[in-house]
Amino acid sequence: MSAVLRFLTAGESHGKALVVIVEGLPAGLPVTVGEVQGELARRRLGFGRGPRMRFEADEVTLVAGIRHGRTLGSPVAIEIANTEWPKWEEEMSPHPGAPSKLLTKPRPGHADLAGMQKYGFDDARDVLERASARETAARVAAGCLAKALLTRLGTAVVSHVVALGPERVESGARPLAADLSRVDASDVRCFDADAEGRMVGAIKAAAKDGDSLGGVVEVLAYGAPVGLGSHVHWDRRLDGLLAQALMSIQAVKYVEIGEGADTAGRRGSDAHDAISWDTEAHTYERATTRAGGIEGGMSTGGLIVARVAMKPLATLNRPVLGTVDVVTKEATVSFKERTDVTAVPAMGVVAETMAAIVLASEALRKFGGDSLAEVVRNYDAYRASLGDRSPSSAAAAGGG
Ligand SMILES: Cc1cc2nc3c(=O)[nH]c(=O)nc-3n(C[C@H](O)[C@H](O)[C@H](O)COP(=O)(O)O)c2cc1C
Repeated sequence: MSAVLRFLTAGESHGKALVVIVEGLPAGLPVTVGEVQGELARRRLGFGRGPRMRFEADEVTLVAGIRHGRTLGSPVAIEIANTEWPKWEEEMSPHPGAPSKLLTKPRPGHADLAGMQKYGFDDARDVLERASARETAARVAAGCLAKALLTRLGTAVVSHVVALGPERVESGARPLAADLSRVDASDVRCFDADAEGRMVGAIKAAAKDGDSLGGVVEVLAYGAPVGLGSHVHWDRRLDGLLAQALMSIQAVKYVEIGEGADTAGRRGSDAHDAISWDTEAHTYERATTRAGGIEGGMSTGGLIVARVAMKPLATLNRPVLGTVDVVTKEATVSFKERTDVTAVPAMGVVAETMAAIVLASEALRKFGGDSLAEVVRNYDAYRASLGDRSPSSAAAAGGG
């Protein structure tokens, strides 16, 4: 089943530019360059990131599909130029020629070796340039458009770091949509001040040892209406769509919906969300979020919760992981591309993006129209048909 909101990215990490084309947006959606730049700046956040984040600016051009600050309903194309291009122009030239040196010591934990074997390359750079998570900048630009649409439908997507290395948030505190700037102001995009301090300490300790750390991010979607996704076919299930989208983020190793893995060890009486009726709001309520706001592959109208875990970055500042030189077949240590200690805070912004794209796509499937006004009309009519008298919960959470 193809997505209603589709996007394609192109571009290499040190190439001239990243490009994203987003197709399926209605006409009339307000979008500015500043908003896209703002989202891209959020992707660069986080203590433990290397100098690349400081000296590589994201130069955004809205190339197509937007006129006078509004989408036209045609494909939107966005370019994110690489300000470092002059340094890389020769090495990454699209014209016939050869690289100045071949990278022949593939890095464990990266796409390098399998990619070289699969595509028949003798230079790991031919793989790593595209495998690099720099590509996520293009996704975030697309996600900015998806978020703009969701905002019009009362849905806000927020993320925060709940574990980094050995440190985790014990309080269970969850940011509302209105708390997002507070999360972004945290050194590690953590909503819990106590955990934040411990996480920064863990990053400093790992940095001292030339090591890296992974962690877990929680993605929350406030205000998503009941009925996104469907039970009728395997590839229409919202949980499946979210899991695939989140798992596609570089270095993500598991995705959990609601209390996921934990519930597997519990009794059924302790693993589900009882339903009640709110007489004032005229809505069904669930006091708990064990199912993460998704039942039978459909959003329930409650808070959507997904947890996304990232492995520690595979490139270490103290190269200790063994590899083999593909030319000599001799044991060696891998070459080192510039690397961070951790990118979990940034991964959270990418996870928000991927969740927003899935939710926006499913919202367009349900409320689809050619103009934003038509989509909003369909959405309002649906809510009215449900008899829902509550303000949209994203608005209640401070987001919509
Ligand atoms: C936002 C973000 C930043 C990343 N930065 C780095 C990095 O600096 N160094 C590194 O070794 N891996 C980094 N990664 C992870 C690699 O891209 C990833 O480990 C690699 O693609 C292989 O992972 P996979 O086997 O899950 O695809 C980053 C990932 C994300 C999402």
